[in-house]
Amino acid sequence: MSEEWVKQAEERIRVKLAQVAARSAHKVPYTTKDGVFDDQTGNISWWTNGFWGGMMWQMYHVTKEGLYREIAQELEEKLDATLMDPDGMDHDSGFRWLLTSGANFRETGREEAYRRTLLAACNMAGRFNPAGNFIRAWNDWGNMERRGENAGVAIIDCMMNLPLLYWASEQTKDPRFYQIAVRHADTVTKHFIRGDGSVIHIGEFDPHTGEFLRSVGGQGYAHGSSWTRGQAWAVYGFVLSYLHSKKEKYLECAKRIADYFIVNIPESGLIPVDFCQPKACGWEDSTAAAIAACGMLEIAKAIGGGEDSPYRRAALKLLRTLYEKRCDWSEKTDAVVQKCTAAYHDREHEFTIIYGDYYFMEAIWKLTGQELFMW
Ligand code: GLY
Repeated sequence: MSEEWVKQAEERIRVKLAQVAARSAHKVPYTTKDGVFDDQTGNISWWTNGFWGGMMWQMYHVTKEGLYREIAQELEEKLDATLMDPDGMDHDSGFRWLLTSGANFRETGREEAYRRTLLAACNMAGRFNPAGNFIRAWNDWGNMERRGENAGVAIIDCMMNLPLLYWASEQTKDPRFYQIAVRHADTVTKHFIRGDGSVIHIGEFDPHTGEFLRSVGGQGYAHGSSWTRGQAWAVYGFVLSYLHSKKEKYLECAKRIADYFIVNIPESGLIPVDFCQPKACGWEDSTAAAIAACGMLEIAKAIGGGEDSPYRRAALKLLRTLYEKRCDWSEKTDAVVQKCTAAYHDREHEFTIIYGDYYFMEAIWKLTGQELFMW
């Protein structure tokens, strides 16, 4: 049985999204300006461009309203420009194609959606470096002078993209994709998880020998700190690797990282950008709360803890706090979840970000038993 506030949240998402979708039908939103979604159509390879499609598929899944499907399919077609651009393709293919063409294939069985998803998986598999058993994260930003600079870089976020590879192996019955995914997950297990259960953001390898060279600071406060969205990607990413591989060691990793996250949740339930940021800094990142909550709900389900599971309780605390303090339910504004932050050292903080809305919605759909599981 869902708690009353969960039912209210579900209803409010449905009501708000019906309005927002109708007026944003041809956009690819990332953030809002004066309450109105921007449009990343001219920046089509941006890593977040699948999330609006994912929201539309979640809505379609529960309502079967054609508008949501049409919006998602239009966005999926726009992403074809990225599929044809080697500089646009990176390790974030799971975010972009599992939530668009992957969802389309699940819901409609369309052949072209299957082909797009498989092409994206093939490209992602091509980023695997067998010397170090890692998937390369970023490209070289189109700069010839700096070519090769990021050849040895892997980041924690990639754990959330591995389900694209698991999907490809499940579909094709070819274990190559799976093998790459578990090798990458094993490398992350070895080099990215610290003794206290927190994770680093960026790991650098020698791309020729595969030797792990160092961790470097990323989107969090500093080298050695704990960027909260990175912790959240790891919690959810490891439990997803467990669900696909059934390897207990990944569930253990997910639990350790979640345990670290849970003991660091402030009394307020509001999540900072970095668990190690200076006390005087109040910057929040609501996306970390929503993503971590999704991962914790999956852990709770996997270990069968029911309502009493500490992972479910923590997830509910995070989500209820977002619901009560950080959601904008006005039908005049486009985004729901407020106070999201892309990176600690960016100039701007605490704005709306599309994946904050996506993961909050996914979590509420999990709690009401109506999620389209796309990972
Ligand atoms: N994957 C990039 C980020 O979480 O900001």
